[in-house]
Amino acid sequence: MDLQGKVAVVTGSGRGLGLAYAQTLAAAGAAVVVNDVDRAAVDSAVEAIRARGGRAAGAVAAVGDSEAAQRLVDTAVEEFGRLDVLVTNAGILRDRVLWKMTDDDFDAVVRVHLRGTFTCARAAAVRMREQGTGGRLILISSPAGQRGNFGQTNYAAAKAGIVAMARTWALELGRAGISVNAVVPVAATEMTKTIPAFEPVIEESERTGAPLPDWLRKDEGLGTVEDVAGLIAFLASDDSKDVTGQAIGIGGDRLALWAHPKEKAVAFADGGWSADTIAAEWSAGVGAEPETYGIPAPTTPEA
Ligand SMILES: NC(=O)c1ccc[n+]([C@@H]2O[C@H](COP(=O)([O-])OP(=O)(O)OC[C@H]3O[C@@H](n4cnc5c(N)ncnc54)[C@H](O)[C@@H]3O)[C@@H](O)[C@H]2O)c1
Repeated sequence: MDLQGKVAVVTGSGRGLGLAYAQTLAAAGAAVVVNDVDRAAVDSAVEAIRARGGRAAGAVAAVGDSEAAQRLVDTAVEEFGRLDVLVTNAGILRDRVLWKMTDDDFDAVVRVHLRGTFTCARAAAVRMREQGTGGRLILISSPAGQRGNFGQTNYAAAKAGIVAMARTWALELGRAGISVNAVVPVAATEMTKTIPAFEPVIEESERTGAPLPDWLRKDEGLGTVEDVAGLIAFLASDDSKDVTGQAIGIGGDRLALWAHPKEKAVAFADGGWSADTIAAEWSAGVGAEPETYGIPAPTTPEA
């Protein structure tokens, strides 16, 4: 994939998936602005990219507010002259069940993921529209946002909102040649290591250097951060110019297109519905095959 001449900003790219995205985009020829709250991580990511002959600049900022978003766009323009690609990847978790989740838990997660995606995308869209040569907004979502997940009120809400924004901005920015897609990744990182079903397998793979087992890579779609990065490079490239408004899953050996929500069963009542007519209709009619919800629990193979 040739990304020569393109300039990308990747938020939260000091470690984990974001670092893999920044490295992969740079290896394909893009100049990359590495952003994170962690200065040491930004410096070492920039150094690593430059050491391999890539072009990178650092921007230490806490994504969430408009000033941070503008700083990232300004860094791209000042260092490399333009902005073509934005990957909104920065993220945190504050998991708690609903009845224990505090206002701070909720606001902190929504601020980084949802508000951070909004403020960064807005600043990037303004710049890309001024340039007049199109662009790419790649918004990082999560299976939790698609299906709901125990203990993740704040995160699921933010990640679902991100997919909704991708669809909305695909409509609004299409005429400017700016594509907008949501990516639904799964990978072994500090974030996913804590999932009890995955923890021992990931640890063993890290200790021995052995690849993650097939059931994890295929059934759970869980692999390395590098497994996800190819999709980011594709979406950043000219090859994906007609791909927009999509939610695309990737992880391990899996690549998937997520369905958009749509009406699954419909019934009509002349003059409208009452509680009683809905009750009579529900179990054998519109509600006969209710949707599942929640991320299915991993099924580990029999020992
Ligand atoms: N790991 C997975 O399987 C998985 C699955 C679904 C979605 N995601 C999403 O992918 C993204 C990256 O996840 P990861 O697993 O690499 O996590 P990670 O915790 O390893 O990395 C997140 C990075 O974001 C940085 N960050 C946090 N708040 C920031 C802020 N306000 N501004 C700038 N940087 C900030 C952190 O310092 C860190 O370097 C997140 O948006 C996450 O929700 C990950």
